[in-house]
Amino acid sequence: MSSETAIDDVATPAAAGGRVLIFDTTLRDGEQAPGFSMSRAQKLRMACALADLGVDILEAGFPHASPDDFASVKAIAETVRGPRICALARCQPGDIDSAGRALANAPRARIHTFLATSPLHRQYKLQMSKQQVVDTAVAGVRRALTLCEDVEFSAEDAIRTEPEFLSEVFSAVIDAGARTVNVPDTVGYTTPAEIAELFAYLRADVKGAERVVFSSHCHDDLGMAVANSLAAVAAGARQVECTIAGIGERAGNAALEELVMALRVRAERFGGLETGIRTQRLHATARLLAQITGQPIARNKAIIGENAFAHESGIHQHGMLKHRGTYEIMRAEDVGVARTQLVLGKHSGRHALRERLESLGHALDDAALDAAFVRFKQLADRKREVFDADIEAIALGRDPEATGPWRLTHLHATSHVGAQASASVKLAHEDGREIGEAALGDGPVDAVLRAVSRAVGHDFSVHEFSIRALSEGGDAQGQAAIIALHEGRELRGQAVSTDIVEAAALAALEVANRIERVHRPTVTAVAATA
Ligand code: KIV
Ligand code: ZN
Repeated sequence: MSSETAIDDVATPAAAGGRVLIFDTTLRDGEQAPGFSMSRAQKLRMACALADLGVDILEAGFPHASPDDFASVKAIAETVRGPRICALARCQPGDIDSAGRALANAPRARIHTFLATSPLHRQYKLQMSKQQVVDTAVAGVRRALTLCEDVEFSAEDAIRTEPEFLSEVFSAVIDAGARTVNVPDTVGYTTPAEIAELFAYLRADVKGAERVVFSSHCHDDLGMAVANSLAAVAAGARQVECTIAGIGERAGNAALEELVMALRVRAERFGGLETGIRTQRLHATARLLAQITGQPIARNKAIIGENAFAHESGIHQHGMLKHRGTYEIMRAEDVGVARTQLVLGKHSGRHALRERLESLGHALDDAALDAAFVRFKQLADRKREVFDADIEAIALGRDPEATGPWRLTHLHATSHVGAQASASVKLAHEDGREIGEAALGDGPVDAVLRAVSRAVGHDFSVHEFSIRALSEGGDAQGQAAIIALHEGRELRGQAVSTDIVEAAALAALEVANRIERVHRPTVTAVAATA
C-alpha cells in the first residue's frame, strides 16, 4: 500500500483496518529536548528522510512558538511529499491560525491541537473549571476545522485525568469534528496494564468512539514508553506517536524503531497489525539524526545501536554458526544494517561505492554520487581501508548549511610537554579576504578552537566538545562535535577527518560559518507568525 492511499484511507478505525499509523514527532517533541535543536535546513533534511522511511503523519513543529518554527513547518509543508504534515497548536486562536497558515500549502495537512485535562493542570496551570476545559477544547477543534479538514485533539496529561472526565472531553471534541483523539502520558507515569485499561474504557465509553482513531503518546520517564504504547495498541490504539531513537522531552518519547520492530517481530501478539515503515531505512534515518544533532546513538540501543547485531561472545558465535535463530530474533538487513563488513579502498570504483551506499540505505542521485565519490577517493588516499562508518559519514556529510563563507586553507598545531600547546590557522572568505591567526591553548584542540574563533572575529565559547572514532584502526576517521554558545544561542558544528585536530578546526569553522550567515543581510524574508 502506498503511503498516499494509506493516509487517506484512515479517517476511521474501520478503514485503518490492520494498520497502526506511525505519527512521528521527532521534529516537534524530539526537537524540543535540550541538545536536540535543529536548524531549518536540518529539519527539512530530516523530514525528507522521515518521508522516505514511510511515516504516516509527520509532526513538523509548533508554528506559533517562534518565527523560525513557523518557517520550518511551512518549508516542510511546501516540500515534503508522502506523509500527512502536522503542526501543533494550543487550543488558542493565535496558535491555531499560525498552524493553519504554516500548513496552507501541504497537500495533506493536520492540525494537532491540545489542552491539559488533569486536575493538577486545570487547577495550577490553566485555572479552568471542567466546563471551561470542555468549552475551550471544543472551540479549538472547531476553529482548526475551518482551516484544515483533519484535526487531532490531545488531552495533555490524559493519564492523570479522571477517566470519566477524559471520556467527556473526547466525546465533546469528536462531536465537534476531531478525527483523532490522543492520550498523552505527558509525564511518563503510566504502566502497561493501566494504559490498556484506560484505552479499553475510553473505546467503550466515549461517544463517537467508532468514528475516530485512538492514539497513544508515551513519555519514557520510567523507561516504559514503548511497553506502554504497545499495551495501548493491544487495547485498540491505531496511532502511536513516537520519535527516532526515542528523543523527546526529558527522558524522551517512545522510540519509533522499537515500536515498529516489536509490532513486526511479535506480530502474532498484536493480531498481525502492520505499519507502513520501510524498516530497511531505520538505521540510516537514525544515523542521519545523530549526525544532525551531534548526539551519538548508544552502542547498546535496541535496533539501531552498534551492538544491536554484534555477537562477540564465543558461545553466541558458536550458536549463531549452527543456526542464526539461536541468538537472533530479527535480521540485521531488515533494519538496514549491512551484514558483511566489506571494506572498500582506493582501488574501489564508483559502482562499488554506489552499491555500498545503497546497502547502507543511502540512494544518492548521480550528482550527489559524483560528489561522494570525489570525497571517497580523497579519503581512500589517506587511509588504507574505508569502512561502512566512513562511507556513511561521506553520505551524510552533505549538509547544505555546512558550506562557507569561510574555508580552512592552512592548519598547524603542536603540543609541548609541560607547556601550552599552540596552533595557527589560515582561513579564506568567499569575499576574497584571507586571515591568519595563532593561539595558545590547553592542548592542540583548545588552541585550534581559539585560533579559529579569533580569525573569524566572532566570539563563541565552546560549551561541549567531543571526538569519537567512526571506524576501526589507528587511521580511523574522527568525528569532532562542538556545541558552542554565541550571544545566548546554542550552535553546533561537526566535522570528520582522519586528523582529529583538523576535525576540531572544521567543526569550529562550521560554528563560525553559522554565525556569519546569521550576521550577514538576508534576502529571503522569514515568514512571521503575526
Ligand atoms: O507530552 C505531551 O503531552 C505532548 C502533547 C502536546 C501531545 O507532547
Ligand atoms: Zn510529548
